[in-house]
Amino acid sequence: MVEKIRVGALISGGGTNLQAIIDAARSGTMAADVVFVGSDNPDAHGLQRARSSGIPTFVVDYREALRSLRQNPAGTKLPEDFRLDEARAKQTLWPRDADPEKVDVFLAGRAVAESLLLEAMSAHPFDLLVLAGFMRNLTPYFIDRVNTDRTRPRIMNIHPALLPAFAGTDGYGDTFRYGCKVGGCTVHFVDYGEDSGPIIGQRAFPIREDDTLDAVRRRGLEQEWQLYPECIQLFAEGRLQTVRMSHELTGGKFCERTVVKILPEKG
Ligand code: GRF
Repeated sequence: MVEKIRVGALISGGGTNLQAIIDAARSGTMAADVVFVGSDNPDAHGLQRARSSGIPTFVVDYREALRSLRQNPAGTKLPEDFRLDEARAKQTLWPRDADPEKVDVFLAGRAVAESLLLEAMSAHPFDLLVLAGFMRNLTPYFIDRVNTDRTRPRIMNIHPALLPAFAGTDGYGDTFRYGCKVGGCTVHFVDYGEDSGPIIGQRAFPIREDDTLDAVRRRGLEQEWQLYPECIQLFAEGRLQTVRMSHELTGGKFCERTVVKILPEKG
């Protein structure tokens, strides 16, 4: 018998993935309970889905937090435990040659919003945090405070493309416009970059000549609703192991990456 894990979810929109996760938890196909749903967007329909299932919700209005920071930078208090140089050194959301001032403003602004998120989450102990259509990149400040054991990441994200292709906010759109014949979705652990963390699971589907972008999105979402609960179940079963791999490339160079190994089912 697999013991149930406590799953927290962050959303920004419609929450169809959240619904699939709530349904899988209810039906017992996934050994998990959803213990909170948080959103950066007060109007996210997913919040309504959570409330109808009796799940506690909270909102950290990022737009509001970032607006007050822009209007009054000097008067905004940064979290006491925020270290700008540390966040700057770790983050890979921005390229190394990006305007340092822009990067600093971004990291500081996010830390303000993320500390509010952490505070709201602290009322609901959890084992795994799932991003289910949460449209904000998380920074090292937040990630390090959730992943307190570096060898056991516990933030998952679902992305609407076959990563590492088409990272960013419009995976299905980018896949479709590129003329791909196959689309897909990916569940991965979150690292310090954008959609760049170790891959846990993927699903692919064909894209046909007469498909519209809407049809591709619909087909993709149907795959997501199955894939996300499956990956959460693997986590609950303790079958996801992150391993640092090193491979020699042609020319004598080495490529190092953290990957996820899926351990066999316990007999
Ligand atoms: C999904 O396509 C997910 O892959 C992406 O955002 C969308 C969220 O949809 N990250 P929903 O809110 O779960 O319906």
